[in-house]
Amino acid sequence: MCGIIGYCGHRPAVPLVVEGLRRLEYRGYDSAGVSFVQAGQLSVIRAEGKLSALEQKLATMHVFSATSGMGHTRWATHGVPVERNAHPHRDHSGRLAIIHNGIIENYEALKAELTAKGCEFRSDTDSEVLVNLIAECLKATGGDVMQALSKALGRAEGAYAIVLMSVDHPGTLWATRVASPLVMGVGTGENFLGSDIPAFLPYTRDVVFLEDGELVRLTASSWEVFRADTLEPVAKTVSRINWDVQAAEKGGYKHFMLKEIFEQPKVIRDCLLGRIDPATSQVRLPELDALPVPERLHIVACGTSFHAGLWGLYLLEKYAKIPVQVEIASEFRYREPILDKSGVVLAISQSGETMDTMAGIKLAKSRGLPVIGLCNVVGSSIARESDYVLYSQAGPEISVASTKAMCSQLAALLLLTLYWGRRKGTMSEDSCAGLVSELQTLPKILEDALPSLRASALRLAKHFAETTSFLFLGRGPNFPLALEGALKLKEISYIHAEGYAAGEMKHGPIALIDPHFPTFAIALDDEFFPKVKSNLVEVQARAGEIVALTNEGLDLHVEHPWLLPRATGPLAAFLTLPALQLFAYEMADYLGKDVDQPRNLAKSVTVE
Ligand code: M6R
Repeated sequence: MCGIIGYCGHRPAVPLVVEGLRRLEYRGYDSAGVSFVQAGQLSVIRAEGKLSALEQKLATMHVFSATSGMGHTRWATHGVPVERNAHPHRDHSGRLAIIHNGIIENYEALKAELTAKGCEFRSDTDSEVLVNLIAECLKATGGDVMQALSKALGRAEGAYAIVLMSVDHPGTLWATRVASPLVMGVGTGENFLGSDIPAFLPYTRDVVFLEDGELVRLTASSWEVFRADTLEPVAKTVSRINWDVQAAEKGGYKHFMLKEIFEQPKVIRDCLLGRIDPATSQVRLPELDALPVPERLHIVACGTSFHAGLWGLYLLEKYAKIPVQVEIASEFRYREPILDKSGVVLAISQSGETMDTMAGIKLAKSRGLPVIGLCNVVGSSIARESDYVLYSQAGPEISVASTKAMCSQLAALLLLTLYWGRRKGTMSEDSCAGLVSELQTLPKILEDALPSLRASALRLAKHFAETTSFLFLGRGPNFPLALEGALKLKEISYIHAEGYAAGEMKHGPIALIDPHFPTFAIALDDEFFPKVKSNLVEVQARAGEIVALTNEGLDLHVEHPWLLPRATGPLAAFLTLPALQLFAYEMADYLGKDVDQPRNLAKSVTVE
């Protein structure tokens, strides 16, 4: 989510680091900072806001003699985006500085322990806790930074990419990662670290991809990789990449949309970070602890976020027994809705800037209802206007067609259901823990499935390239996914598509069915299967061609069965959704459409 660059070499480090941060700008910004050792001093310069604010600060300083340094752009996942929370963070002695992407899940316990030892903290971040923990370990390792880092990591739980520097070793950087990207660039008389390749692409195309649990020690003339836990050396190979800057920004994918679809396993992991009690597998959402469990919930959203809300309705009613209404924000704001004071509004928005959703929030507030914002962009207008905020933690979404943001919204809605279900007593500890542990296994299942899902999507795209209209069908929680499948296809391939509740089809759309009007059905192994199957028989009776997302072993005979791995109940959505997105993506790409910037659409809709 955040951008990282580290440099050891022969050039002035600070301008190079800032320029590298500029190339990571597409990842989003709320603050940025650099650190470097100059004249025996470890300097940390940070600024809130866009990179230009940091550049303005640096312009008034003499920062040209340091030849190693590091920089960070923050795209906050939680915690207010202000200068004191910006990276790098120093330990309380001021001898170490760290930049960190990710979340240290047990930072509260570590912070309490360090506070008891007299350590004072200047920020709200887990990163400052980590650098102080490393400083504490340094006392026991006689000043050996690498051993101290290894010891500290042994106590840190969570996901991270870290770069560390010390005033006592001005030409050295240490870096490590777990479940957060970090790559090394190998140059001549200079070496680099980056969260992404564009950070250093103008200087070298020779890269070393670091794996989870590896630690690197970098100087201008050397780099060595070790296992972070045992410090045993690890042999690595240098790969030469041929990407241009644009391809590098897209991580080698052809489009941001494809990259974002493939990021969804990580999105699920990130959404869970810090929200599951490791001992009990119960959901923690401390940001909502002060709010009583709603007696009634009004979900207000637009577009894809509306579909996520509709999916949430099925879960919240079934498991948490909360009555839910889901409202299209542009309708809600102009109705005269009956809003009882016992109700709560949940506004869902990726961008946090959608004008209609914002107007819905204002209406709810004027009637005295508390508002929860489920947003992706930290510090966005909707996040600021809401009384409570739950961040979906998907990272910057660049493609106009929303994909990974919806995945994160579904994950957050599932967590919300379990959290309220437990508080209300409608769910047992065991049933929650069961769903949580299955959710934790999903990223790997999805990761393994994505390449073959993409291949199937491309096959289908070629087959249907001349089709002008599609019907998407689903029942229960798969109905909102059918709506989303149709929306994705419409917005990026410009092919007409209707999403329908499968049972509604016989009340009208069935009249459209003929051999040229295919149906795309979600027919999974769940309680709705027999009903969906009989709807599909009705389609077949009218010679309609069918694609069905389904599971192996089901008694379903259609022209294009598309098999998904099995998942329990609502968790199947995390596999169905990427398949629908990939179908739309491959259709649009095959037809040569502008996938990332479809005509007439904007990423955030701040007009009526
Ligand atoms: O940022 P928001 O989630 O509030 O945006 C809502 C819609 O504008 C958005 O989901 C839109 O439908 C996307 N183009 C869908 O891909």
